[in-house]
Amino acid sequence: MINAQRILVTAALPYANGPIHLGHLAGAYLPSDIYVRFQRLRGREVVFICGSDEHGVPITLSADKEGVSPQVVVDRYHEMNKAAFEQFGMSFDNYSRTSLPLHHRTAQEFLLEFHRRGILKEKKEKQFYDDQANMFLPDRYVEGTCPVCANPDARGDQCEKCGTYLNPMELINPRSKITGRTPVVRETSHWYFPLGDYQARLEQYVREADERDGWKENVLQYCRGWFKDGLQDRAVTRDLDWGVKVPLPGYENKVIYVWFDAVLGYISSSREWSERIGKPDAWRKFWLDKDTKYVAFIGKDNVVFHCIVFPAMLMAWNDGERTEKYVLPANVPANEFLNFEGEKFSKSRGWGIDVKDILTRYPADPLRYYIAVALPEYRDSDFTWKDFQARTNNELADILGNFVNRTLAFAGRTFKGVVPERKELDRLDREMDEILSRTPGLVGDRFEQYHFREGVLEIMNLARAANKYFNDSEPWKTAKADIDRCGTTINTSLRVARALAILASPVIPSSSEKIWKMLNLPGEAARQSWDDAAGTGIPSGHRLGTPEILFTKIEDDVIDAELRNLTQPLSPPPPAEPAKQSVTMEDFKRIDLRVARVVEAENVPKSQKLLKLQVEIGGERRQVVAGIAQHYKPEELIGKSIVVVYNLQPAKLMGQESQGMLLAASDSSGKLVFITPSAEIQSGSVVK
Ligand code: 2FM
Ligand code: ZN
Repeated sequence: MINAQRILVTAALPYANGPIHLGHLAGAYLPSDIYVRFQRLRGREVVFICGSDEHGVPITLSADKEGVSPQVVVDRYHEMNKAAFEQFGMSFDNYSRTSLPLHHRTAQEFLLEFHRRGILKEKKEKQFYDDQANMFLPDRYVEGTCPVCANPDARGDQCEKCGTYLNPMELINPRSKITGRTPVVRETSHWYFPLGDYQARLEQYVREADERDGWKENVLQYCRGWFKDGLQDRAVTRDLDWGVKVPLPGYENKVIYVWFDAVLGYISSSREWSERIGKPDAWRKFWLDKDTKYVAFIGKDNVVFHCIVFPAMLMAWNDGERTEKYVLPANVPANEFLNFEGEKFSKSRGWGIDVKDILTRYPADPLRYYIAVALPEYRDSDFTWKDFQARTNNELADILGNFVNRTLAFAGRTFKGVVPERKELDRLDREMDEILSRTPGLVGDRFEQYHFREGVLEIMNLARAANKYFNDSEPWKTAKADIDRCGTTINTSLRVARALAILASPVIPSSSEKIWKMLNLPGEAARQSWDDAAGTGIPSGHRLGTPEILFTKIEDDVIDAELRNLTQPLSPPPPAEPAKQSVTMEDFKRIDLRVARVVEAENVPKSQKLLKLQVEIGGERRQVVAGIAQHYKPEELIGKSIVVVYNLQPAKLMGQESQGMLLAASDSSGKLVFITPSAEIQSGSVVK
């Protein structure tokens, strides 16, 4: 185990293409937050870095699906996820986003450095192309049958069923995600990073880092698998227009591969943090000083990028003549997956629960506690509502909350809320002292080794032992027979309550501060010393605060309602608009709806809302003015099929003639999307 004084901690940058769910929390986020909060209590100098991953096909596909620009998608989910993380109690020092110019510069700097030193190789390659959408189909833009397990819905970059990483060209029966058509093959050029050249050094790096800091077996297994297959060159550019531009001639229409830029997001987010705190060089000692311990928390699907690709990039950089030499991850503690009621989280099937939603119904701490004891550290694990209820009620409320409450209530009643003296100790006191004094070391060892589940259970064991001590000491009896004995029991219990506030604060930070306040202690639980947590009691004569309920039990009917709701989509749709008066078929048939293709689109001068479209309807050209400028850029519409009301009387909008009306749907949030046929069909086709 590396015992470093300075620690850099990163947590995987989540894609800003959807709300984060509980599975994300169990993978990288809660473990990293517990680790960071614990290390801060140990007095280590820590910086905790995260941010949104805003590039790549996952983002553009979400945007395509919604019919909005990628910027709209990332703006929405960056803010949403940042807020959800805050509410969950994540203590990031910086939560950045990869669309920042600082990040683009950082990624380009790495690419240019590798290019300048001749590390990158340019290759011509064959790639799928959608000749209707007029674009190459990198990564997830193609789906097809997996060549390994025959899953018919394998993605171009990976088969989710068998986990195999794929090149889109390997798919059997490929189909474009955009039009559903069979793609054609075209030649294109890309720059490649020669990962294979680093294999020997990477194997040595993983071996030595494991020897020094004890890597998790699941992570080592993934790495061994990759090494066994032999590392291949990896393309670091893509034929897309959303992402970090490739600053090389002939590459004006291409971007850097999202994984090449995302991992560098840790560096740019650290630089942003430095600038924000007014110490522009602060990031340097974390990234460039070899005495820093760098720990990268991720979920299992990110192992190859953090244990192989990113270290190789940093090695390549460090081989150069520049003075900045980056530290490589000392450990990459990756968790397996958390399932939800026995099944994988799935955005498309609406299975699971978003963080922002669950936090509207329950406070963060019980959720943090339950996820911590259910972390998928060695194998996939499961979130169930019943377990959540049981852990909250039987452990947080009945053990921890009950112990703190009864101690404070007793001290209030019997000692007028003033800490009594600790007099002569008996066997029970000494046993309690012994359990208390070994717990910080025991939990600390578990946390240092990334075994958070076990560490958290040890904290609860301390509370359990404290409840037993209280029961066995029977202070309600000694209060009458031997007040000094009673005082000693209460003094000892208060010492344990104080220690519990500190030790539990990485896991349930708000509740720990509540305990701290109830004990009326100065400062914050989170700013105490882990190593002194057991040694320092509360001086006799100290006036305590008022006890409050720490954890509210979850009733059966609340959990039953959650279980009944399981079949509902992730975020329940807003109520539908009231129906309009019914019309006859004849009424409806009087409206002539046609498919049209947009050939030109431009803004209407001086109008915020209107776009002027030139559309082709079965050989006829018309001008249609539509109120969609706040939802689409003109260029996003060109080439798209839309539906228009063909026989609407022409009208003038802002001085522009409109010969038809575009059909669009809008929801209660104000989002608006145009209606498009589900498959390719000739323009002019009648909609009925
Ligand atoms: O899997 C994901 O959600 C990726 N966006 C993780 C990126 S981690 C790092 F490279 F930024
Ligand atoms: Zn497969």
